[in-house]
Amino acid sequence: MSGQNPTTSKKTWANRWTFLLAAAGSAIGLGNIWKFPYIAGQYGGGAFVMLYLLCIAVMGVPLLMAETAIGRHTRLSPLNAIRKLTSDLGASKLWGIIGWMGMLAGFLILSFYSVIAGWSLSYAWDIVTGAFSGMNTDQVGDAFGGLVSSAPRQIFWHTVFMVITLVITARGIHKGLEKGLQVMMPALFALLLIMLGYSMLETGQFMRGFDFMFSVNFSKVTGEAFVAALGQAFFTLSLGMCCLMAYGSYMPANNSIPRTAINVAALDTLMAIISGLIVFPIVFAYGLEPSAGPGLLFVSLTAAFVHMPMGELFGFLFFVLVGIAALSSAISLVEPALAWLIERTPLSRTVATVILCAAIWFVGLGTVFSMSGDLTFTLFGKNFFDLLDYFTSNILLPVGGLLVSIFAGWIMKRSTLMHELGLSVGVFNLWRAMIRVIVPLCVLTVLITALF
Ligand code: PHE
Repeated sequence: MSGQNPTTSKKTWANRWTFLLAAAGSAIGLGNIWKFPYIAGQYGGGAFVMLYLLCIAVMGVPLLMAETAIGRHTRLSPLNAIRKLTSDLGASKLWGIIGWMGMLAGFLILSFYSVIAGWSLSYAWDIVTGAFSGMNTDQVGDAFGGLVSSAPRQIFWHTVFMVITLVITARGIHKGLEKGLQVMMPALFALLLIMLGYSMLETGQFMRGFDFMFSVNFSKVTGEAFVAALGQAFFTLSLGMCCLMAYGSYMPANNSIPRTAINVAALDTLMAIISGLIVFPIVFAYGLEPSAGPGLLFVSLTAAFVHMPMGELFGFLFFVLVGIAALSSAISLVEPALAWLIERTPLSRTVATVILCAAIWFVGLGTVFSMSGDLTFTLFGKNFFDLLDYFTSNILLPVGGLLVSIFAGWIMKRSTLMHELGLSVGVFNLWRAMIRVIVPLCVLTVLITALF
């Protein structure tokens, strides 16, 4: 399945689809299906969606290319990739912080990601066992409240999800990832299309949902919305935490990085937009609030599944596939820290995975207890989960992206990147100008606006 790269001893992925699949598997997950609709709902729709698309195009795509190129060039885990480059180029060792921040971000994100993925598994189970049958929309809302207020139920499913992640990760990237995703990702896409059909034909509110997402009310284009859009763009593309660097290190030399980056960004954005177009018409049809927060996807779709013909089957499949999409992202969240542990310590892959996943599981309890109300600690009006989410998506990932862009734009050799990207000189210069100037300026502006 996996071949040897001729220039190094490191294994590379078997064919050109595998990297695309793995990168898309990392990018597509709860960020698209769960987070995008709820954040867009909280920031009032169109204005947020416009800013988000802007961030994807202007910052996301160039950075995706930069991260992948660094990984493929060095064929090392992110931290060691940066270390090797800085020592080869005589640059400051401090750049290693990019790798450390990436590991930290992956660790913290996975801690709450696993809890939400656990919700999805819990929903799959409840739907197929008939727990929702005959419920009206209010009762569906209460059922969500019931799950979230119960620490034991959330811990159970959080544990199930972390154990699955652990087992697949410990088996190794080649064996674990390649096969499953080839079937699951298209299946998820097909199911999203079925749900989109439902929203279009059965809710009677499709145009209202569409307008909510795409008509821009410029008074809602605020600094705060911009930070949220930037954070969401980085989160959904798995950017700014060296995840694609880790994956890029397995990418065959003859794959085109720019083409793959554009495909990943396009697929990922498409999934998010479709999710929004599914959720909002249902939200309006059943009298729910677009700004309901993290429960939005679960409550709205379940309200629809209860009314749909074969809703139990579709609901079950939907939540299982969302869980699987989350799994392929979770695996990529562990990868940077895991790759480093394996390179740097005598631990075997299995032992390293167990230690890492146990620690992540433990931190995840903080999210569980803040959801259930057992942990009442707040800071700036945010609970533990909100703080983690804000700190990772809106600070760690953008700052990570900022550093990667400066590193790739100003420290790395032009010829190295030119070689990795394989672009014509004109297009390459355009990319380089974006990475050197536009991306850092945009990220900085947004972050500074956020502070004031
Ligand atoms: N991109 C994933 C999603 O949208 C989450 C993720 C973030 C995965 C960062 C890896 C790194 O669900």
